[in-house]
Amino acid sequence: MDKELLVKEILEKVLNNLGLISAIRLETPANTDFGDLSSNLAMTAYEQVKEKFNSPRDFAQSLIEKIKEQDEQNILKEVSVAGPGFINFKLDEEYLIKNLKKIVQNKNLELINLGLGKKAIVEYSSPNIAKPFTIGHLRSTIIGDSVANLLEASGYQVFRDNHLGDWGTQFGKQIVAIKHWGNEEEITNAENPVEKLVALYVKFHDEAEKDEKLNDEAREWFKKLEQGNEEARSIWQKCIDWSFKEFATIYKYLGVTFTENDGRGYGESYFENMLTPIINELKEKGIAKEGKEGAILIFYPNDELSPLMIAKKDGSTLYATRDLATDKWRSENPRYQNADGSAPLIVNEVGGEQAFYFQQLYKAEEILGWYDKKNRVHVKHGLYRFKEGKMSTRKGNVIWLEEVLNKAKEKALTFTKDEEIAKAVSVAALKWNDLKRKSEININFDWDEILNLQGNSGPYMLYAYARAKSILRKAKESDSQIDSDAKFEISPLEKSLLSSLNDSSKVIARAAGEFSPHYLCNYLFDLSQLFNSFYNKYPILNSSAEKAFRLELVKAVSITLAEGLKLLGIKTLEKM
Ligand code: ARG
Repeated sequence: MDKELLVKEILEKVLNNLGLISAIRLETPANTDFGDLSSNLAMTAYEQVKEKFNSPRDFAQSLIEKIKEQDEQNILKEVSVAGPGFINFKLDEEYLIKNLKKIVQNKNLELINLGLGKKAIVEYSSPNIAKPFTIGHLRSTIIGDSVANLLEASGYQVFRDNHLGDWGTQFGKQIVAIKHWGNEEEITNAENPVEKLVALYVKFHDEAEKDEKLNDEAREWFKKLEQGNEEARSIWQKCIDWSFKEFATIYKYLGVTFTENDGRGYGESYFENMLTPIINELKEKGIAKEGKEGAILIFYPNDELSPLMIAKKDGSTLYATRDLATDKWRSENPRYQNADGSAPLIVNEVGGEQAFYFQQLYKAEEILGWYDKKNRVHVKHGLYRFKEGKMSTRKGNVIWLEEVLNKAKEKALTFTKDEEIAKAVSVAALKWNDLKRKSEININFDWDEILNLQGNSGPYMLYAYARAKSILRKAKESDSQIDSDAKFEISPLEKSLLSSLNDSSKVIARAAGEFSPHYLCNYLFDLSQLFNSFYNKYPILNSSAEKAFRLELVKAVSITLAEGLKLLGIKTLEKM
């Protein structure tokens, strides 16, 4: 078990026995000479005992023996008081070594079960049909996949969904454009069919500026599509197939999959028949009303949020209508319901620019009683900023994702000749770059940073892992049995590494609980840095008494890195 949790447990027992109440926080002192952990508990609880003690320091002093008494597992080597009353704890190496052995033996990390078998839908990627797969969709794919992995590892039953944008009035325009200026055969045979579709869509907008009638025509075609007109349906279906072919290539490249609807995800169109009933339900419940202009809107109590439109004046539905239908269906579907019939946790990984919209959506779903507030989570991602400038679909000056992926691979090929390795390195580089900081932060996209072998990058992480594996390959099996008679001193650096290896379960639980893979990245990067310092400072294969211990350290590092990177969706390489 994680050392911090154990020390907390000890302190809780001590407080309980004294009948005191205080929140317990542990810090890692900047100077580990004083201890591995430290607590200000004696200061925060002093108010309750000030009759009996002269100072927080005196009180702290009186706790030392009591703390030692509660340390049943002997994890503490030293407990001392410092300054105005800080209690410092030095951990016993024996305890940390026990933990090390456990990782090596189990070849696995011990994870904390947060989900307890409850169900969670994680929705990510969600690109739009007949539109480019944008960098935003790339971010959503990478971050969402990792959040799903983290929840799964933390005991949730996870459903991975892709909420494709395959419905809406824009398909009326797309159909008109294809009919007037497109050539289906040419699109089918094009290297990038979506590029052709986008060009047609841009042309529609240019032409419609000159000829208003085109917009009426588009409305008619969308109506036909809704009514099931065969020609409309067939063109629309082709758009989906053309687009999905491209999406599937990207998912394959990234090694990302979905579990819902045969791996395709439930797109917006799946809920088409549920839209009118939703509008009616919300009207009947008095949650949605006709606004001044004839549209139907959800109005919030006390005007807490601005109204959310769910049907336009002409009756056509919107993005929000489809989300409401989707979420109602999810809340009622036995596949997603928890054993007690309650609705699942749903995570939407979508750009931060939709934050207000998701607030409106979640509030409505809470008022409707479909979901608890805590079960609707928007994991936001920020923008990528390119030196080339921002991008917009409408105008057609798009940065194509494929270009980014190809460029990443091309750059990776400058330091390896192997195509497969270059591919894996480029994917790791892009994923790490997306995951290593809080997702909502905007990123200045910088190739030098992304591929920097010396710094906080995917390639750096892969190198650390491959280096560990290479040491282990060179060692003989018999080398790595810790001989309990061998006498050696554990250095402070080795103790830090041991201590860091003990933190993985806590970090993974935090990353999962806060839907924030970057905590795991920070941890793994720190671990790799410690490992690299250790590797540079101490001989491993040429050491004597320490050899077995050091090899166990290397093994535990390699296991922790492999497991951690897997949770981030990053494939490790045995050799680089
Ligand atoms: N297709 C949308 C877009 O590209 C994202 C969908 C997000 N998910 C949702 N349930 N609204 O912006």
